[in-house]
Amino acid sequence: MELRVGIIVGSVREGRRGEAFARWILGLASDRREVKAELLDLKDWPLPSYSFREGTTAAEQSYPPDSLAGRWAKKITAQDAFIIVTPEYNHGYPGALKNALDHLSAGWRHKPVAFVSYGGFAGGARAVEQLRLVAIELRMVPVRDEVNVKLVGFEADERGRPSDPLYAKRAEAMIDDLLWWARVAKQGRES
Ligand SMILES: Cc1cc2nc3c(=O)[nH]c(=O)nc-3n(C[C@H](O)[C@H](O)[C@H](O)COP(=O)(O)O)c2cc1C
Repeated sequence: MELRVGIIVGSVREGRRGEAFARWILGLASDRREVKAELLDLKDWPLPSYSFREGTTAAEQSYPPDSLAGRWAKKITAQDAFIIVTPEYNHGYPGALKNALDHLSAGWRHKPVAFVSYGGFAGGARAVEQLRLVAIELRMVPVRDEVNVKLVGFEADERGRPSDPLYAKRAEAMIDDLLWWARVAKQGRES
């Protein structure tokens, strides 16, 4: 069963660290059999602040298909699972990420999501705790395993990947968990 995994880059800041972490995870996910992973970089999806009229249909069904929101909805709907790569901003996660999440409902539903965070001593864990609540409201399946990269004393290779092998070990466990749920959820959605 082919599984499409969207890796969302939650930081759009000039000089952001997040892209290197997202590319690291993209490499690990792409090495898995039957996985087609792609980067969904919010910098490439500069969605305006959510401003649509609330309706009786799911928001994404009312977007003009060629609009940015319409294309974002189509892109998300095509995925089977997600890995959100997020920094911690003021003990939360970036506003652009929340805006991108709010733009859809059905497209996220019954799909697993895993989290890679980074930040100071807490490694961005506080941002992930908040995202888990949002994911549940979107009827997603947040998986237990996560990666929290502590930037204090952090060492990376020339491509910005963590030097400490413990991070890759945690990431592989997280991807195992995500793909298990992705298969189960896809079967469920298709039946
Ligand atoms: C607006 C802002 C708020 C931040 N707040 C926190 C915080 O609450 N906790 C933390 O651990 N790091 C915090 N940081 C540090 C970030 O985790 C660090 O700068 C990280 O590299 C940001 O991700 P980015 O480079 O991908 O944008 C903050 C950084 C910014 C820019």
